[in-house]
Amino acid sequence: MKYSNKLKNLPPYIFAQLDSLIAEKKQAGQEIYVLSKSDPDRPTDNLVVQALQEKAELANNHHYPDFDGLLELRQSVSEWYATHYGVSLDSNSEILPLMGSKEGIVHFCQAWLDHGDIALLPDPAFPSYKTGTILAGGEPYFMPLRAPQFTPAFEDIPVDIAKKAKLMFLNYPNNPTGVTVTKEFWEEVLAFAREYDIIVASDHAYSMTCFQPEAAPSIFTVDKNKENSIEFFTFSKAFHMAGWRLGIAVGNSEVIRGLKVIETHVNAGIFNPIQYAGAQAFKLGLNQGFFDEDNRAYKERLTLLVEFFNSMGWKLEVPKGTVYLWVPAPAGMNGEGFSKFLLDNARVVVSPGIAFGEEGRMYVRLCVTYQTEVIEKAIQAISDVFREHNIQGPGTV
Ligand SMILES: Cc1ncc(COP(=O)(O)O)c(C=O)c1O
Repeated sequence: MKYSNKLKNLPPYIFAQLDSLIAEKKQAGQEIYVLSKSDPDRPTDNLVVQALQEKAELANNHHYPDFDGLLELRQSVSEWYATHYGVSLDSNSEILPLMGSKEGIVHFCQAWLDHGDIALLPDPAFPSYKTGTILAGGEPYFMPLRAPQFTPAFEDIPVDIAKKAKLMFLNYPNNPTGVTVTKEFWEEVLAFAREYDIIVASDHAYSMTCFQPEAAPSIFTVDKNKENSIEFFTFSKAFHMAGWRLGIAVGNSEVIRGLKVIETHVNAGIFNPIQYAGAQAFKLGLNQGFFDEDNRAYKERLTLLVEFFNSMGWKLEVPKGTVYLWVPAPAGMNGEGFSKFLLDNARVVVSPGIAFGEEGRMYVRLCVTYQTEVIEKAIQAISDVFREHNIQGPGTV
């Protein structure tokens, strides 16, 4: 038996490895503080659950769903974009429901990349951009994101690479660094992308997980005619629906059509009751206040962590959005060593930055989708081992 080269080229999925490690530790009866996986601690809203229950009882929802996605859901997406961003979308051609945005991101690459085509990918980044590129036979070209802005330097991309690039992924508010961008940034992105005829995929997973709503502009507030962009949204974070597997892609109709062709070949639609529930979630989320409680809790937890690290010699800022803190490893350790050190000594699980790319080598990512009490216990445990091991601030990154 011989695995495909594609499979061999995929790096290990560190979050699956971390899950096994956590299960092992728990089975051994050890109390551990997990700050690695971003799965909101609060349950899905009752009205959303009720929508699923009611629709699941109707026999006409037990058949194969439409490939286009439920009209009610597409209409609610259109209302969502109009309300939050003043962007108008055609429910028929510019919106596609997805069985999770991770799945959609990987399938999108199949629609646009042929063997040897280049995809411009941020580094560090959510790993699926690279996975999608490799599985489609494309070549990743990594755009380093470095402190303090963590945005790509387009002037550093060689012209021959830009000419061969077919698409570019970007994600702001950003996982793993927590930074946000302005509309001016999207103007710069689109000017570069149009010069080289590149499709821009904006992963807007944290659009509502943002402590200042204006810090998460949709790309379509700038690409007003939807010339060359697509935007992905997930229900997992803002609506605590990670297990439901529901996402949305919106944008240029030709780009959406390409993704839809792949989806029709790979998936057989999304269970209608889940889509009705998604439409209900979007209705609730039309009121920006719906996200306040989450964002207040996330900001408070991030602030606790920032204050702690800064008291130990770091100079971190509280992110304006997301659920992540991107922390440089202490002097004398890299991110992988630091995450192992924290697990072995403080029983705290964090993600090594290398899981997000080479540029993350000297960092770890902490996630705050865990109850404040867990964060406080983790801080105490880290504080004890820092003192014991005389750790005083970060190394150079
Ligand atoms: C930036 C980013 N994009 C996409 C996803 C995937 O979300 P979904 O649950 O819809 O697959 C995540 C999940 O952590 C993410 O951080």
